Amino acid sequence: MTHKIALAAAFSAIFAAGLLASSANAADEGEAPKPCVAKTFKIAKVKAACESGGSKAAKDLMKKATKKAKAAGVTEGMKCKDCHEDLKNYKLKGDDPVGKIKKWL
Ligand code: HEC
Repeated sequence: MTHKIALAAAFSAIFAAGLLASSANAADEGEAPKPCVAKTFKIAKVKAACESGGSKAAKDLMKKATKKAKAAGVTEGMKCKDCHEDLKNYKLKGDDPVGKIKKWL
């Protein structure tokens, strides 16, 4: 008899652990913002965006900045890939990408 109770307790513990694990996964995919790749930053605004809203906030900031530049007539070198090697690790490339984006942030 006590055997059965112990077994039931063990099962419910496993079940509860499973529930906890799956809700933690849901938070990872949904609500928690994906962090930025970089750990150090040269531009305070980019750092702040990464810290508050992760990669998505940084992207939004970049989009706004490039839009502003384009609106002011600066159309050359304002595509994401003019400053970033790819849109996964966002490795910087080109001539002074920091100086170029900073003006428009
Ligand atoms: C004129 C250059 C320039 C352009 C154009 C540009 N970026 Fe950036 N971006 C930068 C620089 C410089 C940094 C790093 C800032 C720092 O180190 O503080 C950066 C950082 C980022 C980051 C954070 C990277 C990380 O560590 O996770 C993201 C995301 C990003 N850019 C997305 C974009 C997207 C999307 C576009 C196109 C809409 C874009 N950028 C266009 C210069 C540029």
